[in-house]
Amino acid sequence: MQRIGVLTSGGDAPGMNTAVRAVVRAAAGRDVITVGFEDGYDGLIHGRHTTLTARDVGAILHQGGTMLRTARCEEMRTESGQKRAVRTLRQEGIEGLVVIGGDGSLRGAHLLAGHEVPTVAIPASIDNDIWGTDMSLGVDTALNTIIEAVDKLRDTASSHQRAFLIETMGRNCGYLALMAGVTCGAELAVAPEAATTVEDIAAAVSAAYERGKYYSFVIVAEGAGLDVHEIADHLRDRGIGFESRITILGHVQRGGRPSAFDRLLASRMGIAAIELLLGGSTDVMTALTASKIRPVPLAEVTARAREVSVEYQHMTELLAR
Ligand code: F6P
Repeated sequence: MQRIGVLTSGGDAPGMNTAVRAVVRAAAGRDVITVGFEDGYDGLIHGRHTTLTARDVGAILHQGGTMLRTARCEEMRTESGQKRAVRTLRQEGIEGLVVIGGDGSLRGAHLLAGHEVPTVAIPASIDNDIWGTDMSLGVDTALNTIIEAVDKLRDTASSHQRAFLIETMGRNCGYLALMAGVTCGAELAVAPEAATTVEDIAAAVSAAYERGKYYSFVIVAEGAGLDVHEIADHLRDRGIGFESRITILGHVQRGGRPSAFDRLLASRMGIAAIELLLGGSTDVMTALTASKIRPVPLAEVTARAREVSVEYQHMTELLAR
């Protein structure tokens, strides 16, 4: 291979830039030219690209977001979109592609591999909802962002003796909420993986008040099926002792400088992606399992759902005493 492409797709995640840098420089180390596509699959379909030298990716390793920009591309789901993407690659003489993104992006990578484009994917999504890898890029930074925000909320919550309902991102996956439950010392973490009712929440917060606590946190995953406003109404009607307040952390969870963990993971996965691609592998994702980076077939990744252990909910409750 002499020319390869790289793109970032789906929701941005801290560590994407670090991975782009690793891909470009690992390829340069093997005398391979890298072409960067802008705005994810949209740039691939419509031919917006630029050659990236080792110098072009200088001073981005520590930056959140993605220098290539990203998009959620509906056109890539269609056969005609995929054919146009393949045409761009052929026209530009690009022989292999590295896709950095979340579950929808990995499905796109799998489809391109099906069109005979050698493709390797790197998992990047703060949700940690991708099967086959212990961690995706951005998860650790997002969790640290949540911890920092909740630590600040603790100051005001304890000063006013309030209960805070804190909504975290994650789409249909409760990973961030469940891990935040343990690492932020919440009363309860409410996630799609563990059936929890507003009554359960009221009982937990009320019991905390009875035990003499000065404040209480409940972390609610956005995909848990419970609206934080409705929970707050229920807590007020039920009279749980604390006044309650709501904080929806939102897109702040997607921003910020990648953590040390994300920088290392992105660098390792970027190098591995190039080694795999140049070694003849295709239709695979770089995955972190048992501390090692290994290839896993995209056919499996895209067909299976990641499970998050509800054990973390139990840990949160146990340690909330
Ligand atoms: O997949 C990452 C994520 O941040 C989810 O946690 C969230 O549900 C979604 O993207 C938000 O998407 P958008 O930025 O398009 O509103």
